[in-house]
Amino acid sequence: MSAPASAPPYAPESPPTADGPTAAELLDFALRTAADPAIVASLPLDPEGRTWIRLEGPGGSEAWLIGWPPGTGTGWHDHAESRGAFATAQGRLTEHSLTVRLPSEGWKSLELAPDVDRRRTLAAGSGRAFREHHVHEVLNESQAEHAVSVHAYYPPLPLIRRYSRSGPVLSLEHVERPADWQ
Ligand SMILES: [Fe+2]
Repeated sequence: MSAPASAPPYAPESPPTADGPTAAELLDFALRTAADPAIVASLPLDPEGRTWIRLEGPGGSEAWLIGWPPGTGTGWHDHAESRGAFATAQGRLTEHSLTVRLPSEGWKSLELAPDVDRRRTLAAGSGRAFREHHVHEVLNESQAEHAVSVHAYYPPLPLIRRYSRSGPVLSLEHVERPADWQ
């Protein structure tokens, strides 16, 4: 069954609440968009580096279609007060994440406890949602296969904090603002 032609693409099936779409609604959007071959095919792929195009996310959310050549990744970062979701459309992505919430201010470096690391792989057609202050890195660990994924965030990202990681030690490196990535 397809939506009427007049319907806006990928509108959420229920109106967002006053607080915007939930993480589950963002994941639903990411999964449905990742399953749309025309949208996925609209992304130019570059074997030398990541590519991305902005999408219209549901309920005022920020959304991106991202291409990942083999061996590329984001590095460790968080999304401040935004919740979000992502889904793999092609290939396979790996996510390393932390189970702990970090203090948002007042530190430059801290030592993580030994049991806070998580790793998951997301094959095409699978995704995950995350809450505010989620810290992760996303990688395409394939040697040969390009990956494509759909990402959505609400509220639209006010900033991204970027971290370096040396064993258990996580260090804040810099803060990116929207002007840095648009
Ligand atoms: Fe992220």
